Amino acid sequence: MNTKAATICPINVLVVGGGMISAEVVLPTVFQARRAGLVGEVSVASRRAQTVADLRKLFAGEEFDGWPEDRNADASHPDCYKDALKKFKHPGCVIVATPDHVHTPVILDAIAAGFDVIVQKPLCLRVAEAHRIAAAAAKANRYVYTDYHKRHDKAVRAAKYKYSTGELGEALCGHAWIEERREMPLKIFGRWADRSSSFEYIGCHYVDAFHFITGLRPMRVAAFKQHKFLKSVGNKAWDAVEAVIQWENDAVLYVQTSWVLPDSNPNLTNQGLQLTCTQGEYFANHADRNSNFVTQTGGVQRYNPHFFKPYNDWDDPTKTEWVGYGGDSILQPLHDIARLNVVSDAERRRMIAAFEKTRPLPQQALIGTAVNEAVRLSVTHGSRFVVFDKKMYPKLET
Ligand SMILES: NC(=O)c1ccc[n+]([C@@H]2O[C@H](COP(=O)([O-])OP(=O)(O)OC[C@H]3O[C@@H](n4cnc5c(N)ncnc54)[C@H](O)[C@@H]3O)[C@@H](O)[C@H]2O)c1
Repeated sequence: MNTKAATICPINVLVVGGGMISAEVVLPTVFQARRAGLVGEVSVASRRAQTVADLRKLFAGEEFDGWPEDRNADASHPDCYKDALKKFKHPGCVIVATPDHVHTPVILDAIAAGFDVIVQKPLCLRVAEAHRIAAAAAKANRYVYTDYHKRHDKAVRAAKYKYSTGELGEALCGHAWIEERREMPLKIFGRWADRSSSFEYIGCHYVDAFHFITGLRPMRVAAFKQHKFLKSVGNKAWDAVEAVIQWENDAVLYVQTSWVLPDSNPNLTNQGLQLTCTQGEYFANHADRNSNFVTQTGGVQRYNPHFFKPYNDWDDPTKTEWVGYGGDSILQPLHDIARLNVVSDAERRRMIAAFEKTRPLPQQALIGTAVNEAVRLSVTHGSRFVVFDKKMYPKLET
């Protein structure tokens, strides 16, 4: 993607939450976009000073304001981002990368302070919150984009393209799998895994991808969970969660998720999608792209060059260029915001309404949130079917 296109009005960026996705994807993308002139000043607000200190080491040489700093490294400051917001300068975009259950207050505070927002998927965990966010964004004429990066994976875009041309016909059924190594609930998300699940955390990617490809809305959901290995090690998070989703045209998608793959799995995430349609089939392994490595230091690596990987910069091969759909999905909204920042309020409103048709703004991101909420409702009620009302509120089928 050409990051030089919008150099007129660099966007200041405040990243809230300095964990895994910020360190591995968000900040490398933002710093690279700053070098290209798309981004202005960068700030990071997290809960612990230690997190900010770790990021300073990881991104040595990159300037950014950090919140909190100069405090007890491990003390928790959940409201620290509010101080950062007070100092944050327009034109600005707040990138929300907090745990799933901490998205809504940060998004609403960012909108109230007059900023546009990019939020890591899922938008939030409750349909009521998604409507509150949509209403606040509409009232304040702000742009709120959910980072569903699979929409930028060419393997998924290709399915959408062929579906849109009619070559595949109409969706009948399909299955998606997305499963992660056990380090996720045990180490990386040790603090909050039991407040989410493998479905809410990653399964929602494929719910969104199916909605993106077909344009269909979900009608009915039944979900199942298992709690065995994690229970045996005293962890309250569920091992695996599966859902059967029936869509408005009667198509059915089965989504299988877990986060207990062995440590030796050669990639963090196994994932893929199969779709059977009236005129054809789509099948893609989104983890194994047939470009794998085995090295003495790195062991066996199932390598996905499309996600977000370092390459030699074309002009200066001693420098690293990060490329891939993980970053594209942050650059697209930054480019949108750059365009919105140079038009009148009326034109901004018109453009956001147009983006709403083609981007995961709240009306589209609502689908992933609604299915997430339905899955939890079903799992906690003996895997009963859950249906949706017109505003996508889930309720147990009677
Ligand atoms: N786009 C993707 O595909 C993708 C991939 C991974 C994660 N995610 C999403 O990104 C978000 C973060 O995931 P992660 O993997 O980085 O998790 P993480 O646990 O590694 O990081 C979350 C960070 O947020 C901080 N935090 C918690 N409460 C806070 C608060 N009140 N104010 C400021 N910071 C706070 C934590 O201290 C931590 O540093 C989640 O919503 C997750 O679902 C998206």
